[in-house]
Amino acid sequence: MAAYEYETHEYDVVVVGAGGAGLRATLGMAEQGLRTACVTKVFPTRSHTVAAQGGIAASLSNMGPDNWQWHMYDTVKGSDWLGDNDAMEYLARHAPKAVYELEHYGVPFSRTEEGKIYQRPFGGHTTEFGEGPAVQRTCAAADRTGHAILHTLYGQSLKNNAEFYVEYFAIDLIMGEDGTCQGVVCWKLDDGTMHVFNAKMVVLATGGYGRAYFSATSAHTCTGDGGGMVARAGLPLQDMEFVQFHPTGIYGSGCLITEGARGEGGYLTNKDGERFMERYAPQYKDLAPRDYVSRSMTMEIREGRGVGAEGDHIHLNLSHLPPEALAERLPGISESARIFAGVDVTKEPIPVLPTVHYNMGGIPTNHLGEVLNPTKDNQKATVPGLMAVGEAGCASVHGANRLGSNSLIDLVVFGRAAAIRAGEIVDPSAHNPTLNQASVDAAFDRFDKIRHASGAVPTAELRLEMQKTMQADAAVFRTSKTLAEGVEKMTQIAAKIDDLKVTDTSLVWNTDLMETLELTNLMPNALATIHGAEARKESRGAHAHEDFTKRDDENWRVHTIARVDGNKVDLSYRDVITETLTTEAEGGISLKKIAPKERTF
Ligand code: FUM
Repeated sequence: MAAYEYETHEYDVVVVGAGGAGLRATLGMAEQGLRTACVTKVFPTRSHTVAAQGGIAASLSNMGPDNWQWHMYDTVKGSDWLGDNDAMEYLARHAPKAVYELEHYGVPFSRTEEGKIYQRPFGGHTTEFGEGPAVQRTCAAADRTGHAILHTLYGQSLKNNAEFYVEYFAIDLIMGEDGTCQGVVCWKLDDGTMHVFNAKMVVLATGGYGRAYFSATSAHTCTGDGGGMVARAGLPLQDMEFVQFHPTGIYGSGCLITEGARGEGGYLTNKDGERFMERYAPQYKDLAPRDYVSRSMTMEIREGRGVGAEGDHIHLNLSHLPPEALAERLPGISESARIFAGVDVTKEPIPVLPTVHYNMGGIPTNHLGEVLNPTKDNQKATVPGLMAVGEAGCASVHGANRLGSNSLIDLVVFGRAAAIRAGEIVDPSAHNPTLNQASVDAAFDRFDKIRHASGAVPTAELRLEMQKTMQADAAVFRTSKTLAEGVEKMTQIAAKIDDLKVTDTSLVWNTDLMETLELTNLMPNALATIHGAEARKESRGAHAHEDFTKRDDENWRVHTIARVDGNKVDLSYRDVITETLTTEAEGGISLKKIAPKERTF
């Protein structure tokens, strides 16, 4: 057994991760007087939410008629009928309140002439239950909305006495023998000390796992740490096969160009200068949902109409927009286009390509943020002491495809919901759980084994092999052949985790060790993704299967539940929740309105 000295910290709640969801949960917990710690591997305002650009969806009706039922309908249709109706109702209903709270906390939203929060159009957001024109529902702070939210929530959390443990890397969850989560074991990166956090509630807000792919808009820190810890605790991941490709990553660097660019009037063209989205989505054109647009771009390239010397990308045109509008509404992407593509957006188009952007799947939760561990007899069974929010979680509001700007609202609505729920079930006067020492020791043993790994494969080499395989075999379009090959290759790649070589065994600022721990987190996420995709014999949302081109509600309107053990993945399925929280008579949405139908735009 590895002998590490450690310091023990006791809290009511420990939130792991300080992005939008983690900070909103932390703030909500602290506001209620719960003793709250937020443990984060990067400084809070460097979390990946800082990169969120275009905005946050809420039916405020500042720019024209809108209501939460239309927002819910769009989310249901956007999800290609794989989202859970209770959670989608919760999201759309609570979105306006959550945004006004942000405003009152101090988020510097852009403003209309009347001083209201400015809202822009985003893909898939419509009026009249998909029958009317596009709606301006996405609340924006220029094209730096995530930045504005993150800084505000961090300041408010400090004001409410939340305690931050910055640059602490979470190694593993501490699980009691009865299956309750009791805390988390962490490594402090800047001085090499070890820390055990004992809590009545652990909230995983660790973000997505975009870095399982070769080209992603996600930060290099997006390594699915929560999913990795959950998988090692024997808990499942859900719907991992649904990986979103954002239509406009800058060709080459993958850097994000916000969908807000199309919301403000930008459009895509092929090598003939044709606005091809008019052919694929006659009603909403460039403002169709992301899965639609990414597939259409890929088809143009495949059919020889891509731009550039190799015909392998597409143009995003903004130069027809007034320079003052670009400067006021899209300053950030104007700068990114100059730095990463050498393009002056007032004069030239930006070269773009669909790029991995978001994971619809994650740790399954109910709409209160409580982690699910479905059994045959109880599909809604929860894991006591454990919650997951934000991209790490899967509530499931995005189903098979997320609408743009529904991510930021997911972060704050469910960060807030988790805090409300914790206020109901965490008793500040109760004793903290007695830690299961075997679980603490197991975390240190794993850490020590990786620290002293002396195999033949460098971490960077194995990570690249995984990223290239995922990029090639679980792409925008998938076939039975690519997926079967992907499963085989990923099984072999994951086995090499046991043959890794860590060259630096020190404990202070050891990025070699940290990246290796991150790779052990990415791997179960990647395995669940490729296995889930290989098994799903239909096309739905972001899962475009060329051998099964139709959506098959009879057999596949189910959530994939993946349990990963080493390089093995066990798949089972859970029913989609079709009941809403309120009935039509209670002011809710009519079930008939949101019944599955063909998804066209
Ligand atoms: O395009 C964007 O600004 C990204 C927004 C989102 O992913 O929600």
